[in-house]
Amino acid sequence: MTAKSRNERRGPLWHKDAVIYHLHVRSFSDANGDGIGDFAGLTQKLDYIESLGVNTIWLLPFYPSPGRDGGYDVTDYTNVSPEYGSVRDFEVFVTAAHQRNIRIIVELVINHTSDEHPWFQSARRARADSKERDYYVWSDTDEKFAGTRIIFIDSETSNWSWDPVAGAYYWHRFYAHQPDLNFRNPIVVEELLKIMRFWLDKGVDGFRLDAVPHLIEREKTKSENLPETHALLKHLRRTLEETHPEVILLAEANLWPKEAREYFGEGDECHMAFHFPLMPRIFSAVAKASSKPIKTIMRQTLPIPDDCQWAIFLRNHDELTLEMVSEAERNFLWEKYAADKRARLNLGIRRRLSPLMDQDRRRIELLHMLLLSLPGSPVLYYGDEIGMGDNIELGDRDGVRTPMQWADEKNAGFSNAPPSALALPVIANAQFGYAAINVKDQEDDAHSLLNWVRQVLALRASHTAFARGQMRFVKTDNDSVIAFVRADGDDRILCVANLSNTAQATQIGLSKFNGFTPVELTGGAAFPIIEHKAYAMTFQPYAYFWLKLDKNRSAGDLDAE
Ligand code: GLC
Ligand code: CA
Repeated sequence: MTAKSRNERRGPLWHKDAVIYHLHVRSFSDANGDGIGDFAGLTQKLDYIESLGVNTIWLLPFYPSPGRDGGYDVTDYTNVSPEYGSVRDFEVFVTAAHQRNIRIIVELVINHTSDEHPWFQSARRARADSKERDYYVWSDTDEKFAGTRIIFIDSETSNWSWDPVAGAYYWHRFYAHQPDLNFRNPIVVEELLKIMRFWLDKGVDGFRLDAVPHLIEREKTKSENLPETHALLKHLRRTLEETHPEVILLAEANLWPKEAREYFGEGDECHMAFHFPLMPRIFSAVAKASSKPIKTIMRQTLPIPDDCQWAIFLRNHDELTLEMVSEAERNFLWEKYAADKRARLNLGIRRRLSPLMDQDRRRIELLHMLLLSLPGSPVLYYGDEIGMGDNIELGDRDGVRTPMQWADEKNAGFSNAPPSALALPVIANAQFGYAAINVKDQEDDAHSLLNWVRQVLALRASHTAFARGQMRFVKTDNDSVIAFVRADGDDRILCVANLSNTAQATQIGLSKFNGFTPVELTGGAAFPIIEHKAYAMTFQPYAYFWLKLDKNRSAGDLDAE
């Protein structure tokens, strides 16, 4: 492929090269000193975000909301919560981001609304056969759709709740205060398109489709991933593309690869989908010092349509979900990473990356290297680039959503408000508090995690193999070493890592690359030339290499001293 055609390909397909920074406006930076992060504060921090080397921001919901589920309970879809600023502030933010070539993905919380949304308030008061009532899913009994599982098992016992005003049960897949919209009603679909166009006209580049498998329900099914839901998504895409051809849809579908893949359709549904099952297997792989969990799930991941891309991640704003592993594996991971039972929530673990890795820089780097090397667009969760901790004392998932630690200053430099006014308390303990872990100190330290993350993101961006390339596992004779090649044309990178906490040696099957010289990407050192036999490598605990397989470079012959 020539550079020119590669660039042409890249234009509209920016999502394939996306490196996504995922953040909560509420917890990022407070410009007006009321203790709550806002768009003005976020806009001021764009230089920082740009300096990381990411090119896309995904925002948690910022719409008016009673805030009983981190904003995933919306009362007004075409507005900005006054806590965060105005629609104008949002537009200023988008423009400033675009000036830096940073794209914006926003949340589309479409499966459900808040029960305080005017639609629900009219629905419950309207006649049973009215147009208003039909915005939601109602029943006279709580027995319909009995094959549907409960998701928030720690807090809900049924997907139905009784509404005394309506005199009927309403359907909800998440909290009882989040009634599900009725997508069998074409008026609801039209409302949704209106909302999407509203934000596209404000400049957003894409939507994360929250809880997308649950949009439509049907008797005698699990009410997940129904053909009706896929047809709806195709309809949305087709319709939106008429006016906004560049829109990107990112599916939040916590599913096995085969089912998740269906959200790409034939390239006519979502452009991106999270690869949920890969994530816990990365944590298993280091816990077991074995490459098998990652290899197995990647082998089950079939190719996706050309214009599509996986989104891959280590941590996000939710619990580290263990829905996509067996019960035995879940128990293993719980024991390993959440021995303190307060860290467990629903079927997952509510902790951040650094505490999960016992603050071990080697393992934190290793996990990032895997995240940046495996196929898909990597999603980094704010604060993980400096190794922020979590606060297990806070309820629900708030413990992983605490204020960004900017400096060893009042409120971690997040806000000027009195500490008691903060939306969430800053982390202040000796190990993970803002005195020990903050952006300012790490900016000044050439060897900080922050500067390391910047360096590897810059390296990744200079090789199309990572974002665009094929991936092939390479044989090793040591299960603790994972090895694969990412290749886009002549850009071929051998990614190889020791998943264990002891030194390891292995032979790697690279005979296909006979005559090539592996060149280490961070420092440019040439490794011994690959010959027609197994290639021997040794590793310190948790060590990794990115090696460019260079055809033309010779490692040099040794002369006598
Ligand atoms: C998604 C969000 C989660 C939210 C849920 C219900 O799973 O990631 O934070 O609680 O949807 O809206
Ligand atoms: Ca504020």
